[in-house]
Amino acid sequence: MEKRFQGKVVIITGAGNGLGRATAERLAREGATLALVDINPEFLARTQEALEAVAPGVRTLLVTANVAREADVAGFVEQTLTTFGRIDGLYNNAGIEGRQNPVADYDSAEFDRVIDVNLKGVFYGMKHVLPQMVRQRSGAIVNASSVGGIRAVPNQVGYGASKAAVAGMTRDAAIEYGIYGISVNAIAPGAIMTDMVVGSLKQIGGEEGWEEAGRRFVSVNPKQRFGRPEEVASLVAYLLSQEAEFINGAVIPIDGGQSAAY
Ligand SMILES: NC(=O)c1ccc[n+]([C@@H]2O[C@H](COP(=O)([O-])OP(=O)(O)OC[C@H]3O[C@@H](n4cnc5c(N)ncnc54)[C@H](O)[C@@H]3O)[C@@H](O)[C@H]2O)c1
Repeated sequence: MEKRFQGKVVIITGAGNGLGRATAERLAREGATLALVDINPEFLARTQEALEAVAPGVRTLLVTANVAREADVAGFVEQTLTTFGRIDGLYNNAGIEGRQNPVADYDSAEFDRVIDVNLKGVFYGMKHVLPQMVRQRSGAIVNASSVGGIRAVPNQVGYGASKAAVAGMTRDAAIEYGIYGISVNAIAPGAIMTDMVVGSLKQIGGEEGWEEAGRRFVSVNPKQRFGRPEEVASLVAYLLSQEAEFINGAVIPIDGGQSAAY
C-alpha cells in the first residue's frame, strides 16, 4: 500500500469503533502517526490491538476524552503536540445518533446532547487544531456530516440539525483558512454498516425486526447495499492526503447514490 502519511500526524476522534477505527487502520497502513481519541477507553484499547495487527510498530497516542467538553478537546490537542510536535490532519468523527422521535416528541435534553457532541464537538476540534495548522501553513480537516445533514431523515431532528450545521461550519472554516494552505471538507455518509446503524435499525424495527428494516432501507439504494467502513476510510484518507489539496469546502456524499434520488 502507498504510504501517503509517512511522517504525518493525524488526530481521529471516535477512533474506538466504526468509521473512526476503520480510518485509523487505513492511515496506519499508510504510515501515519496517530492520536486516537474516544470517550470509551476499552474501545480505544481494541483499536490499538487492531492497529498492531495491520501496521506493527505504528506510533499512537490514546486519549480518553469527551469531544463535547472544550477542555477535553484542548487537552488532546495539547497532548498530541507535546508527544508528536505537529498536527497534519484531524478527522472530527465522534458522533451519536440520539433517541429517535418526531419533532413534537423529541426530548429537549436529548436534542442538547446530540448538538453538544456532533456540532460543538466538531467546532471545538477545528477551533483548537487550526492555530497549529496555521503555524505550519498546512493541514487538512475532515468533518463528519451525514446524508441526514443534506437530506431529510425522519425522527432525527437533533441529528439532522447537527449534521447540517457541520456542513455549514465546514464551508465557513474552508474559506477562512484556505489561504494558510489548509483544507476543510466534510463527508456525508449514507448508511454504512457500523454499530451506530445497527442501533438505528433497532430503533426502527426492534430487536427482532432490525435486519428486515435494514433490507427495506437498502432496497431503495441504487447499489442495493449498505456501505462498508473501509470505503469511508478510503475517502477520508484521500481527503486528508496531499492529493486532495485543491478540494476545500466540499461536503461529499458517500451513499451509493441514494441522496441523489428524487
Ligand atoms: N455509520 C453511518 O452510517 C454514518 C452515516 C453518516 C454519518 N455518520 C457519522 O460518522 C461518525 C461515526 O459513526 P459510526 O457509525 O462509526 O459510529 P459508532 O457508534 O460505531 O462509533 C462512534 C465512536 O465515537 C465514540 N464517541 C461517541 N461519543 C463521543 C464523545 N462525546 N467523545 C468522544 N468519542 C465519542 C464512541 O465511543 C464510538 O467509539 C458519526 O459522527 C456519525 O454521525 C455515520
